[in-house]
Amino acid sequence: MLVLSNARLFLENLIKYGILVDPIQVVSLFLKDPYSWPSLCLVILSNVFVLTALHIEKRLAAGTISERSGSVLHSLNLLTVLCFPALVVLTVSSATPVGALFALLTYTIVFLKLFSFRDVNRWCREQRAKDESARLGELGTSPAPAKRNSASGQKTANGDVVESSVSYPANLSYKDLYYFLLAPTLCYELNFPRSPRIRKRFLLRRLIEMLFFTQLIVGLIQQWMVPTIQNSMKPFRDMDYSRIIERLLKLAVPNHFIWLIFFYWLFHSSMNAVAEVLRFGDREFYRDWWNSESVTYFWQNWNIPVHKWCLRHFYVPMIRYGCRRWMARTAVFLLSAFFHEYLVSVPLRMFRLWAFMGMMAQLPLAWFVGKFLQGNYGNAAVWISLIIGQPIAVLMYVHDYYVLNYEGSQ
Ligand SMILES: CC(C)(COP(=O)(O)OP(=O)(O)OC[C@H]1O[C@@H](n2cnc3c(N)ncnc32)[C@H](O)[C@@H]1OP(=O)(O)O)[C@@H](O)C(=O)NCCC(=O)NCCS
Repeated sequence: MLVLSNARLFLENLIKYGILVDPIQVVSLFLKDPYSWPSLCLVILSNVFVLTALHIEKRLAAGTISERSGSVLHSLNLLTVLCFPALVVLTVSSATPVGALFALLTYTIVFLKLFSFRDVNRWCREQRAKDESARLGELGTSPAPAKRNSASGQKTANGDVVESSVSYPANLSYKDLYYFLLAPTLCYELNFPRSPRIRKRFLLRRLIEMLFFTQLIVGLIQQWMVPTIQNSMKPFRDMDYSRIIERLLKLAVPNHFIWLIFFYWLFHSSMNAVAEVLRFGDREFYRDWWNSESVTYFWQNWNIPVHKWCLRHFYVPMIRYGCRRWMARTAVFLLSAFFHEYLVSVPLRMFRLWAFMGMMAQLPLAWFVGKFLQGNYGNAAVWISLIIGQPIAVLMYVHDYYVLNYEGSQ
């Protein structure tokens, strides 16, 4: 039934619009003026903040600056990582929304990674101070215990090899930091599990998938989503509610297809390809979120790199400081909502808070599904919220962007 109904939709779309797919048009999404490349310049400039963080850590490790000064400098650096690209995007008119989104995404990843880098190095210094005082206490007795991260040539449960044994502060090198920046994880470790070799056939399969799915996503957006969105503007203008709902349901189908393909492209093909090239051993990028019977389970399992970062650097520290679980959970969702809004509003140069509210709405939704819907009903609720929630947000932003940028000029 699915194949038949979608084949009909596909044919209807082709008959109505002809072929709209145009890969060359994609270039114009990134570049407005061929002599001005603000997004690329921003991405290159992000290295300045990375090197600043490394320099601060080196000073802290050597003891030439105090913990307090280090923490202030790190906070200033991290704040600039978020503010600087936003200011550039908002002031440089040649930055396109898609180019700006890529630049801001890079800066967001750099922010999360440097935050983790700062925390782990601080924990290492605290451990070093503890070991030192223990050694002083037991002067002349047993040697200091082996450090958690200094295992050499160890094998993990799934056969990965921890080979490059590094202990603090030897990890504070360009090579170590850039390996972490390129690795598909947001949580810093002194010694990442490494796979023994690059599997060429596995890598080739992932690269072919990446190429194929990129084309497919671009094609589906141009052929299917753009005309549906364009046709939705009139019902929105006229406030014709039944037509708005019809448009919304029509958009939900391609939107969901694209989201599922995007999920596979990012979390399976791309992350595994990068991990394979870097021989990065930890391949847990997602778990079985499609079986979620609660909204909580979905958020714990669909984006593991972000979930692990949230747990390790935000949620557990808050609980350790004495916060209640619900407060820590709300704080994590607030942070996540902020980043979602940041990544949408700044590139579109339009502050509407739809993404923020969509993310915050997950808390009452999680409560409602957890309390009233179990088993398959819970699973259906999660899928329906995914299928319907996203096109609502897409239409809201597109409508507002259209009104702001095109309607006045007509
Ligand atoms: C908020 C969030 C972190 C809560 O996660 P959760 O798994 O529901 O939280 P839990 O209370 O079950 O605790 C999870 C883990 O924290 C750890 N933990 C909790 N309290 C702890 C404490 N006092 N000390 C040490 N560890 C602790 C434990 O490892 C626990 O695992 P366990 O359940 O096996 O014991 C999660 O929902 C989340 O990541 N949300 C945001 C996701 C997001 O925005 N993603 C964006 C993707 S685009």
